[in-house]
Amino acid sequence: MQPDATAQPAQAHPDIWPRYRYPATLTDAQDARVAELLARMTVEEKIGQLVQGDLCCVTPADVRRYHLGSILVGGNSGPHGDDLAPPADWLKAADDFYAASVDKSGGGGVAIPVIWGIDAVHGHSNIVGATLFPHNIGLGAANDPALIERIGAATATEIRATGQEWTFAPTVAVPQDFRWGRAYEGYSSDPHRVAAAAGAMIRGLQGPPGGTNLLAAGKVIASAKHFLADGGTKDGVDQGNADIGEQELRDIHGLPYGAVLENGVATVMLSFSSWQRRKITGNRSLVTDVLKDRMGFGGFTVSDWNAHGQVEGCTNASCPQALLAGLDMYMAPDSWKPIYEDLLARAKAGTVPMARIDDAVRRILRVKLRLGLFEAGKPSSRPLSGRFDLLGSPDHRAIAREAVRKSLVLLKNRDVLPLKPGGRLLVAGEGADDIARQSGGWTLSWQGTGLTNANFPGATSLWGGLKQAVEAAGGRAELVPDGGWTQRPDAAIVVFGEKPYAEFQGDRATLALDAELTGPYATMRKLKAQGIPVVAVMLSGRPLYVNPALNTADAFVAAWLPGSEGEGVADVLIGDAAGRPRFDFAGTLPAAWPRTPDMADGALFPLGYGLTYASPATPWAPLPEVAVDAAADRHSWFAKGVPAASWSLVVAGPGGDRQTRVTAVPAQALGGRVIVTATDHRVQEGARRFAIAGGDAAIRLQRFEPLDLSREANGDVLLLATLKVAKAPARAEIAVAAGERIAAVPVSLPAGGAYVRYGLPLKCLQAKGADVAHLTAPFILRTSGAADISLAEVRIGTDAEQVLRCP
Ligand code: BGC
Ligand code: BGC
Repeated sequence: MQPDATAQPAQAHPDIWPRYRYPATLTDAQDARVAELLARMTVEEKIGQLVQGDLCCVTPADVRRYHLGSILVGGNSGPHGDDLAPPADWLKAADDFYAASVDKSGGGGVAIPVIWGIDAVHGHSNIVGATLFPHNIGLGAANDPALIERIGAATATEIRATGQEWTFAPTVAVPQDFRWGRAYEGYSSDPHRVAAAAGAMIRGLQGPPGGTNLLAAGKVIASAKHFLADGGTKDGVDQGNADIGEQELRDIHGLPYGAVLENGVATVMLSFSSWQRRKITGNRSLVTDVLKDRMGFGGFTVSDWNAHGQVEGCTNASCPQALLAGLDMYMAPDSWKPIYEDLLARAKAGTVPMARIDDAVRRILRVKLRLGLFEAGKPSSRPLSGRFDLLGSPDHRAIAREAVRKSLVLLKNRDVLPLKPGGRLLVAGEGADDIARQSGGWTLSWQGTGLTNANFPGATSLWGGLKQAVEAAGGRAELVPDGGWTQRPDAAIVVFGEKPYAEFQGDRATLALDAELTGPYATMRKLKAQGIPVVAVMLSGRPLYVNPALNTADAFVAAWLPGSEGEGVADVLIGDAAGRPRFDFAGTLPAAWPRTPDMADGALFPLGYGLTYASPATPWAPLPEVAVDAAADRHSWFAKGVPAASWSLVVAGPGGDRQTRVTAVPAQALGGRVIVTATDHRVQEGARRFAIAGGDAAIRLQRFEPLDLSREANGDVLLLATLKVAKAPARAEIAVAAGERIAAVPVSLPAGGAYVRYGLPLKCLQAKGADVAHLTAPFILRTSGAADISLAEVRIGTDAEQVLRCP
């Protein structure tokens, strides 16, 4: 059937969607038990089940008092505020929250154990020492459902060792525009590949489709995310709008949900994004009418991180619209208390129907019964709990290594691979010995940044694997990042590609590799000019325009984001002593590879492309190389002493009055009270120095077009300022302004001889009333009293040397 042409925008037509068989998971006796629990619960207990808080902001006492149904850890959270806490601390925290949830010593009530959700998205990837499997884009290249199922099972095992019950995985996005920063979390642009992979992952995590007593079986519950069309937003903008018709919505983005539902996924996470300009989290026709009623989803829905606050007419503190649309559990990381109070008040006033509340609670309780949660006892008493030897166990690492091997896609090979191990190998490129870089975002921290190899016990970098393979065969390997070898090599491997990012931080304007990351092209050219055969190995979350590397290198391998077992790369690239392959290439492109940064001339290699050792030597007509402008780094507003294009540096009074725009230096402002000069930082004149004689002053970065930082303020993004304070002002504040409206936070900036990168959470400014969606002065440093301050850089990001406390 065709949707009717007069359709309302964003209004789905359930009867054009398929029906699926969602497995029955509870016995009649268990269903009767759910009904009996529900009948005994107070309205407070019911509302509590619908709310999930993040470890950043919720304690066991809160769980006890508010009967919260669930807790989570976001990418940067962890027990006692430490996302790198050792495994035993995670299990201990799980016990503490569990004990609080079932503690009814205060009298009456129904003891409902809490469940803990975590982003185990490529292995148990928040935990130090866990096995890190390739990100989904690599698994989509491997396209081997049986392998993916084993990965799911190993991941479940590792999660259970630290006491959690629920992973926010798999991502079943079907990315259509790879400029999207989350494209690597999806398996493929082909919905059928995604369906096969996602179904297998769910079986691995949860066990067989209708399985019950999951905890006893060493399993966890999964969450298919993000429903719906997170990978279909216009221009690949994260949390953006899928401006597509209902058939495309169904046939591309909806297709994998068949496999997801028939495998009995216990939860579905609703997307931050919109369909036809309306937020999915508030779209009843999609969430209730299509997903639950038509497709037959029998588990519960969970929202994304404060995504309810983006629904039309909602705020982070209040959004009954989402519940009414079919949301069952609110992911309300830091907003759980207002959400709880708001829902409770509305339930008592009868303005949200009790039937809808009961339905949501029933769905959550059914999943908890399916887990076997009521009989499982405290987390540390359950099967696999505390088996920290299973984190990064040899068996799991072997699966990951196999996955790395199978995910590699060979795009070019002019008689150079496999390399003979007996000779001299040069390994170059900054990414060659960097486990964080080969693991990508969602690795130990949200962005996967700020880490060194020491954070990855038991893991192996690409270099580590290559060196082992070469030396085991009597050869020699040398690591020189810039390629300047000391002993002439027989061949060189140059590792290059992207640096870690997550979510919107990874959105790009084009499909070109960032200009700042193209240095290795010169290394490849130099080595070629020296007559040394070059193998390019690319680490990336997506296919990218990298024609200069494809043209220069004799062989080219897309390695995606392989994770902790770098040896998998050497397994395929380094042959046996006789020069025969030990393993063949098995990966094929999970999405088309671009010929140009804008994909204008179509695909260079189609989806499904990939050579093997049996393929004839690749004939190679040089590809066009276009200039890639150093993409304006949207996150950098002031660097090397100058503001970014369309930004201005201004000195003004505290309220933004009496402005002087600093163009040339030296400059004077505020009637000569402030003198601005150039000073060196890293490069000559790389900073601006402000000598303030006294009184109140403000150093401001301004722009004409207001800047929308609402996604950043919802995530853990910091306003970063690199400063040297030669003389500290009596008082200082960091502020932002939307027009006249200023929000300020007092900060302490002690005097010191060195530049320090300070970071202030954007959340903090928002809490002080900043209108983060319309900032015209997104950085203001206000001072009182005489001061001498040099400013080198202002940007947003997640890595500060000193995080300023939010008072
Ligand atoms: C992401 C989800 C993730 C959640 C919890 C959100 O911002 O979009 O994919 O599961 O945070 O960390
Ligand atoms: C959290 C992530 C979350 C993101 C949402 C971050 O603060 O750590 O888990 O996905 O915010 O933007």
